[in-house]
Amino acid sequence: MPFLPYGLIRSALFCMDAEAAHEKTLAALERTQNTFWQLLWRQPRVQDPVTLAGLTLPNRVGLAAGLDKNARCIDALAGMGFGFVEAGTVTPLAQPGNPRPRLFRLPAAQALINRMGFNNEGVAAFVTHVCTSRFAEQRQSAAKGAPRMALGLNIGKNAATPMERAQDDYLMCLAAVYPHADYVAVNISSPNTRNLRDLQADEALAALLAALKARQRELADAHGLHVPLFLKIAPDLDEAQVQSIAAALLEHGMDGVIATNTTLSREAVQGLPHAQEAGGLSGAPVREASCRVIRQLRAALGAGFPIIGAGGILSGEDAVAKIEAGADAVQLYTGLIYKGPALVAEAAQAIKAHLASQGQVPPAGGASADPPAAGAQ
Ligand code: FNR
Repeated sequence: MPFLPYGLIRSALFCMDAEAAHEKTLAALERTQNTFWQLLWRQPRVQDPVTLAGLTLPNRVGLAAGLDKNARCIDALAGMGFGFVEAGTVTPLAQPGNPRPRLFRLPAAQALINRMGFNNEGVAAFVTHVCTSRFAEQRQSAAKGAPRMALGLNIGKNAATPMERAQDDYLMCLAAVYPHADYVAVNISSPNTRNLRDLQADEALAALLAALKARQRELADAHGLHVPLFLKIAPDLDEAQVQSIAAALLEHGMDGVIATNTTLSREAVQGLPHAQEAGGLSGAPVREASCRVIRQLRAALGAGFPIIGAGGILSGEDAVAKIEAGADAVQLYTGLIYKGPALVAEAAQAIKAHLASQGQVPPAGGASADPPAAGAQ
């Protein structure tokens, strides 16, 4: 149990500018991870193992990309009970992102709007941070037993790279992160990098997926290890677009899909302060759109194709709704800001209970804290 109730921390953080609060929180997590102070946020990890794209996850709740863009806080996040954590989006070169302010809270809607623009330190620094984490050390010496948390690394393109050369950026990042990832997420759905979402369209998508799969095969041979590739898509797609993306996923043998990123729609937040800020809207207002895309993907992809559902999970019930829509696992980001780390176990436990009630997994266990990292406490 954490010593500090999240409600208190949240009140203090919500008095600050949203990005300043984010930076202070990440700096504190980075400074205190693997120390005694991690007791402040450590949560038990619900044991509800599932195998997805060949990966065995300890539970079905992951951290969505964008919170830990530089992979500086993997150990802290690992302590919050996630079944998997996705770091990034990382681009080949460091870039500052869009001018500030670029992150806004809409508390009345339990939402955020961001136009960060892939601000990050570049893939070389990113890989260094992954490699120097306690998580990476333990991964090398992974003992048999309960499955460990999985690490996803999310890749993108630099803003300055012309769209005709976008593929080069993805291939470069894929090669750099490949040996360090349990899966790689290919982000073509951020609304904050100009024209990025055009990569979701038929021909561009086919070319990108073909190139990524070819490079994945080369890397698998070189490293003796198959690392699954997940495509991350937007919620702002009509049914025909979802179907043609699903067909491309199947045709190119992609390993899975993450649905969804943030939305450009403002329908659910009209009239609220900040609602007209440019960028991607996340949290409760994207929940239904993301469930719709997941349902359409499941119908088009059939049973067995790995789908990770993200968008608007702020309770255990919301997490279950993603599973009911057809997701195998879920991710959250905005919910963590509004509800704190306790949401992770709440969501994982709700999914576990739901599946047990459906007779899909043997009801058993409960939450169990991972053993602390050696010398960590
Ligand atoms: C994001 N998201 C995101 N996604 C991604 O693939 N790469 C990224 O760099 C980011 N950056 C980012 C920054 C901020 C501030 C937010 C709020 C979100 C999208 C995120 O991973 C997720 O897909 C959506 O936010 C929907 O989930 P939630 O937040 O409603 O749980």
